[in-house]
Amino acid sequence: MLYDKLKNYNRIPFHMPGHKRNIKTLGIKLPYGLDITEVEGFDNLHSPNGILLELNNKINKLYNAKQSYALVNGSTVGILAAINSIVSEGDTVLMARNCHKSVYNAVEIAKAEVEYIMPDYDDFGIFRGITAAQVESGLNENIKLVIITSPTYEGVESEVDAICKTAHKRNIPVLIDAAHGAHLFDRYHNADVVIRGLHKTLPALTQCAAANLYGDLVEHKQFEIKLSMFETSSPSYVLLASIEKCIEFIDSKKFDEYHTKLNNFYKINLNNLKVLKYDDIGKIVIFTGYTSISGYELADMLRDNNIEPEMAATDYVIALSSVCDSTENFNELKNVLTEIDSTLSVNDYNPNTISQLPKKKSNSFDIKDIESTNLFDCIGKISAEYIWAYPPGIPIIVPGEIINKEIIDYIKNNKQTDFQSTYGQIPQKIYCKKV
Ligand SMILES: Cc1ncc(COP(=O)(O)O)c(C=O)c1O
Repeated sequence: MLYDKLKNYNRIPFHMPGHKRNIKTLGIKLPYGLDITEVEGFDNLHSPNGILLELNNKINKLYNAKQSYALVNGSTVGILAAINSIVSEGDTVLMARNCHKSVYNAVEIAKAEVEYIMPDYDDFGIFRGITAAQVESGLNENIKLVIITSPTYEGVESEVDAICKTAHKRNIPVLIDAAHGAHLFDRYHNADVVIRGLHKTLPALTQCAAANLYGDLVEHKQFEIKLSMFETSSPSYVLLASIEKCIEFIDSKKFDEYHTKLNNFYKINLNNLKVLKYDDIGKIVIFTGYTSISGYELADMLRDNNIEPEMAATDYVIALSSVCDSTENFNELKNVLTEIDSTLSVNDYNPNTISQLPKKKSNSFDIKDIESTNLFDCIGKISAEYIWAYPPGIPIIVPGEIINKEIIDYIKNNKQTDFQSTYGQIPQKIYCKKV
């Protein structure tokens, strides 16, 4: 509907955007022909009562939510709005330490306090899911919100239903960052807010996402108010139409076929590399830890064979599959991995992980009180910056925490150029509190 309406929209555009949908003059094959923002007759994303309300209702139906919102600024904007609508200065959130940096940023903007749940690692150095028992032991009278990422980048899910039950006994809402779980339609309906990255695992254009609200613990109006603060006031209708088309595309037959292709893929026979299979089998995690090559080297070998993986880490590579992958693509990945595997041999494996939460020393500093320090000389100093590897964008140090040897070793043992920090001087330098 929205897509057809856009296709048929042919008024002379004396309005934004500046390209005026003039494909002929531009001579470029980008979707200028469909690109408008909120002109008369096309509703208002921040107060929808027409075609965009219908779109939200379609999302709602898909995820069986109470209220849903199409998002055009990624999962990030949903996370910023959700957290800031639930907590404010002085409140405390209980969050999994492996949350994405957007969660950390949202909490910082809200000026809320944080308590962490440190997930365990499995035998491959990959975070396990968060259990209800971990949440239970972290809850106290100060906690106003629980935040969990499920599934993770690697496809690991947490005990979301049991976690919700535990938190709801105390009337505490649960936010699930399901940026990687848009295709898990039947999951997390017991949570209070679920943010889904439609663009990550479904056929929607980059930046398309959705927010689902369930239950009565989160005020819809507050969420809408915060959303309209954080989200653009010039939403792209190309993105919105792609959300609509994405929803229309989904049918169970296509997903059955996708699962058949995936199950065939997992019959792969490797001697040295290991294909890990987590809860979301759409994330194909190829573990290199038992071989002499790193995940980065495997990623390069895949690239040499014309395959670009989603991400590489020290000991593994993630290949993100979706309902749009062809049998040929799966076969190619299988053949190339089998070929690479035949050139490798078995090696010892020592996981590179951070097992302890760094100690927290202070909350905030004045810019005058920080100094640039050589990264490898800053053990024992208080970091004034976040440091994360991107992807996955999970901070390994947060401002106010003391940098310890484990963190420095972790950075040394990884590809150092993969790290980013608040002020962007990594890997050489970092801002710490002056001593
Ligand atoms: C777990 C998680 N949450 C949130 C985000 C942010 O999503 P977006 O890039 O759609 O804003 C990401 C992005 O990679 C992510 O991995």
